[in-house]
Amino acid sequence: MIKPLKKAIFPVGGLGTRFLPATKSMPKEMLTVVDKPLIQYAVEEAYAAGIEEIIFVTGRGKSAMEDHFDHSVELEQTLERRGKTTELELLRDMLPTPGNIAYVRQQEPQGLGHAVWCARHLIGDEAVAVLLADDLVHGEVACLKQMADVYREVGGNMIAVMEVPHEHTSRYGIVNPGAAKGKLVEVAGLVEKPAPEKAPSDLAVIGRYILQPEIFALLAAQGPGAGGEIQLTDSMARLIGRMPFHGLRFEGTRYDCGDKAGFVEANICLALEHPATGPAIRQTVADIARRLKL
Ligand code: UTP
Repeated sequence: MIKPLKKAIFPVGGLGTRFLPATKSMPKEMLTVVDKPLIQYAVEEAYAAGIEEIIFVTGRGKSAMEDHFDHSVELEQTLERRGKTTELELLRDMLPTPGNIAYVRQQEPQGLGHAVWCARHLIGDEAVAVLLADDLVHGEVACLKQMADVYREVGGNMIAVMEVPHEHTSRYGIVNPGAAKGKLVEVAGLVEKPAPEKAPSDLAVIGRYILQPEIFALLAAQGPGAGGEIQLTDSMARLIGRMPFHGLRFEGTRYDCGDKAGFVEANICLALEHPATGPAIRQTVADIARRLKL
C-alpha cells in the first residue's frame, strides 16, 4: 500500500556560513529572490504538491521565519487604514491554516540527517517530503508536485535528480543509477560528496525528497559521515533494496541559493521573468553588458 503524503519537513537549522556576513543575524532561508524569501518559495511548492502540514526544523536566530508565517497585526492594520487591499490579501493568503505549521528546534547543527530526525515525533506511519529551501527550483510545474504525482503511483522513496558537471560531484549526493523508465531512474546506490574519480555517475541529488517513515530508525542509528555531519544520504542509502527507491529527472531550473553565485543568478533570472520587473531588468542587463563589454 502506498502511504499518504501530507507532511513536509523544512530543515532550516543550518548556519549558512557560505553567506556570511549576510547570515550572521538573518536566516539564510530568509534571503530574498526578487520579492519573496527562499523559504516562501519552498512552502508554496509544498502546497502545490498537496502537502497540508509543514514542519520547520529551526535553530537559534531563526525566529524571523516564524514571524514571516504569522500575522503582523500592526502592519495589517496600517494597510487596511490606507486601503491597500492587494497587499493585505497577499499577506493573508500566505498564512498557513492554524495548527498546520509546527516548529522543532535543532539545538546544534549536526547535519541534514540530524535535522530531519529531530522532526521524527511529528510523523506517523506515513511518507514525508523534505525540502531544502536554499535549492530554488523554478519551472512550470512545481518540482515536488512532479515528484508527488509519480510517488502516488509508484510509492517508496523518491529524490529529485539532475546531471551536474563531472568535476562538481564532490558538492552533491551522487546516484548509482539502475534501470531507467522515462524520467524515472532506479536508485541502486547513493554516495555523499564523492570525488569525481570515485563518483558512480554525474547524477546528483538536489534538495527535494519523499521518504518512507523507516528513515527515522536509520537516522537514529546514523553516525557522522562526510564533513563529520549526520548525513541524510547515508541513511537513505540503507533503504535501497528494502523498498522502491527512484530518482526523478524533474523539469525546471534549479538554483543553488546557498551559494552566492547561484543566488545572484536566481535573482537575475526570476527578475527577468517577473511581470513587475522583467522589462526594466532586461534593459538593465543589456546596459551592464554593454558598459562592461561582456
Ligand atoms: P547546507 O549544507 O547548505 O549547510 O544545508 P548550511 O549550514 O545551511 O550552509 P553553509 O554550507 O554553512 O553555507 C542544507 C540545508 O540543510 C539545513 C540547512 O538549513 C539547509 O536548508 N541544515 C543543515 C539543517 O537544518 N541543519 C543542519 O545541521 C545542517
